[in-house]
Amino acid sequence: MFKLDRKFLVALSISAASLLAIGCNGDASADAQGHMSSSAKQSVYANGKAVIDGGVTYPTVNGKTSQYAVNTKIPSSGFNYGRTPTANELEAWNTDVTPWKLPPKGQGSVEDGEEIYEAKCVMCHGDFGSGGGGYPSLSKGNAYDLQKTLTNQRNIPDADGPTREFGSYWPQASTLWWYIHDGMPHPKTKSLSIDQVYALTAYIISINEIKIDGEEVDDEYVLDQEKFSKIVMPNVDGFEPKIDGKGATDVVRAYYANPKNFGGQNLNKGAVRCTTNCQEANATVKRIQGVGISDFLPPMNVTRDMPVEKGAPTPGEKDYQASCAVCHADSSMGAPAFGNKEAWAKVTSQGMETVYHNAINGKNGMPPKGGTDLSDAKIKDVINYMVNSSK
Ligand code: HEC
Ligand code: HEC
Repeated sequence: MFKLDRKFLVALSISAASLLAIGCNGDASADAQGHMSSSAKQSVYANGKAVIDGGVTYPTVNGKTSQYAVNTKIPSSGFNYGRTPTANELEAWNTDVTPWKLPPKGQGSVEDGEEIYEAKCVMCHGDFGSGGGGYPSLSKGNAYDLQKTLTNQRNIPDADGPTREFGSYWPQASTLWWYIHDGMPHPKTKSLSIDQVYALTAYIISINEIKIDGEEVDDEYVLDQEKFSKIVMPNVDGFEPKIDGKGATDVVRAYYANPKNFGGQNLNKGAVRCTTNCQEANATVKRIQGVGISDFLPPMNVTRDMPVEKGAPTPGEKDYQASCAVCHADSSMGAPAFGNKEAWAKVTSQGMETVYHNAINGKNGMPPKGGTDLSDAKIKDVINYMVNSSK
């Protein structure tokens, strides 16, 4: 889930907010008992800041507010449930790691990380994070090289898509630390110590060839909290709008203030927002035509029969590859070369029985049976295969 484009996440939460607004039926609605009311107001928050496009503000009653509805019967004293958590309790719960909240103190080396990885992660994430078996790969090589394809695609339409790996795509390393700490290894989450998470993070940074503070992360590298704070991911600026860090909310606000940034060009030409039956009556609808599926490149295969089975392998072919090609692939060893007409014409001119005999018993540089313990019959198969190659 952390791999999702952040832009998409923002869009998602916004559409969720607009759905809610619709569900609540817009302005001031009370239920049959008159208990709950929700009035959704567009455009500005109480602090005077513009509401992000599609967002809604909800009223505050007795100092309480809710995204869903406000219970107007809340006494100003509030309800008498539970108690305010102590600072220590809050601290104990507040463990998540974000771009602006470092992981707890600890340390781990790339070397240790590799060892833990081999023991607890490799079965799903593959050698050196190569993935496979349906599990995400954690590295496809040098993150800086792979990241370029992102920029590339923005400037050159139809260029390679981004390589969506931790190294080349994720804007923040905090997500990696937190993901491992909270979600991995898959079958036994939260079983790793802080130091182990540092070690695994160091290892994954190292296989992605990401530098920390200009330094290469080699086997001996020990990652700790301070060095962690210096990690700058190659793709830190690759997302639009930038939603991380201080002031990011204002960046997002400005971004959504301009309908052009999210395909809402027609809004400033008087188009009305809609969520149902938005499609114009005369809009052209593209459908897949006919029996074949044509709009794919390369074209999709529409035949349903099983692939043609390959014929049985030519007798002798496999044994030739395994035991004879080493000397017979060309003439460099003084042996008649595979496929060479003249050479084999000369050999077979002795008569096949002699040829079989020589190959089975050896002749000059030709060891008996080519050094194998194949049966005479098999050797004959191989010889026939070699002889036929030159025809
Ligand atoms: C049993 C299989 C399994 C094991 C073992 C496992 N993982 Fe995972 N890992 C997964 C799956 C499945 C996902 C994807 C989860 C998802 O997308 O919801 C994943 C996702 C991840 C991701 C996020 C990758 C991405 O690009 O989204 C990281 C990082 C990760 N694992 C690290 C580790 C580490 C480190 C270990 C060893 C401590 C480990 N995993 C052990 C199955 C496994
Ligand atoms: C170590 C190298 C080597 C290997 C392995 C080898 N050959 Fe040869 N083979 C030779 C050389 C050298 C000659 C040429 C010998 C000569 O004519 O003096 C030769 C010649 C032959 C000839 C021609 C014999 C003749 O009558 O002139 C046949 C047939 C032959 N090899 C078959 C095989 C088969 C079958 C295998 C594998 C099972 C095999 N060789 C593996 C080196 C090798």
